[in-house]
Parts: sequence; C-alpha cells; structure tokens
Amino acid sequence: MKMEINKDIERILFTEKELSTIADNIAGQINTDYKGKELLVVGVLKGSVIFLADIFRRLSLDCRLDFITASSYGSGYESSGRIIIKKDIDTDIKGKHLLLCEDILDTGNTLFYLRQNLIDRGAESVRICALLDKPSRRQKPVTPDYYGAQVPDEFVVGYGLDYDERYRNLPYIGILKPEIYM
Ligand code: PRP
Repeated sequence: MKMEINKDIERILFTEKELSTIADNIAGQINTDYKGKELLVVGVLKGSVIFLADIFRRLSLDCRLDFITASSYGSGYESSGRIIIKKDIDTDIKGKHLLLCEDILDTGNTLFYLRQNLIDRGAESVRICALLDKPSRRQKPVTPDYYGAQVPDEFVVGYGLDYDERYRNLPYIGILKPEIYM
C-alpha cells in the first residue's frame, strides 16, 4: 500500500504478514491457557488498539472487552514513572481474570502500575500481553506473559504505535528516521 508517511520510515521491522503470524501465535496461547475460563481483555489506549483488534477476534473464549487509558506525568519520549488513570474501565472486575493488552512494554512503569491497581481492586488474576517488549529500558520488574517480539532501543512506529500521535495507521511496524524526532 502506498502511504505518504512511508517516507519517514528508515526500515521495516515487522511486515503485515509477520504481525498476522504473531497475532495467530499469541491468540493460540491465550485460547489454550484460558480454556474453560471467562476472560476480560483490557486494552490500554491508545497504542494497543490495532494489535488488540487482531488478537481479540482470534479468541475463541468466553471473553469481554474493556479499555483503560493511563498516562505518565511529563512529556515526550522519557517516562517519569508516575502514572495516572485518565479513563477507567467500566467493568466490575472482582474475581475476574484480566488480560492487559499493550502495544509495547518499555520502562514498565505503565503496566507495573496498572497491574497492581487492578489486583488491588479485586481481580482474580492479571496477565500482560504486549506486542513488543523493549527489555533494555526496563525500570520496573515486569515481564509480559505473552509477547510478540523483543525490540532494540529504537523508535518504533506503526500498527498502533505513534510518534506525536502520527504513524499509528501504518499497517506494519517500522523504525522512524532519526531526523523526524531529533
Ligand atoms: C505507550 C505504550 C504504553 C506505554 C509503555 O503509551 O502504549 O502504554 O507507553 O511505556 P512504559 O513501559 O515506559 O510505561 P503512550 O503513553 O505513548 O500513549 P499511547 O498508548 O496513547 O500511544
């Protein structure tokens, strides 16, 4: 597909086909692990939406969907580590099995906070599903229960991931040219 924003991409990390295979594999694991259980999938807005849509429609479980929006104080690329919930879930989660769905696990600040917050509110279990894992930047002890791939510390965009709210609509994941964000 020809898109004018393609020119800002240095190289493609994961093609549409590769992302589809990743979604097949992760959804397959989730279907096996939660067989016979009810599952509440919680998408962390906004970055997770494309990945979540691909995972969710591959699930054959009895599952429900909700969304949460978290934000760290501060701006730009560096996370401050202090997280607030800007939009909360609507579902009563007491005794429920939750799967937090994210596009990327970076410092871990967001998911570390959200996981504990949801456990504190009575969830029976909270697991993490992240498309991408960037372990080199981790500040909190959190690892994904399900993930697609580990990525180096480069600026990845597309398939939901943004730079300054742009590039989420790229159907693949690519590395942004440094001159775009320098
Ligand atoms: C990104 C991403 C995760 C978070 C990961 O969200 O979607 O939620 O950062 O970073 P962390 O592991 O360092 O906490 P962002 O705040 O950019 O918002 P977005 O989802 O709307 O793009």
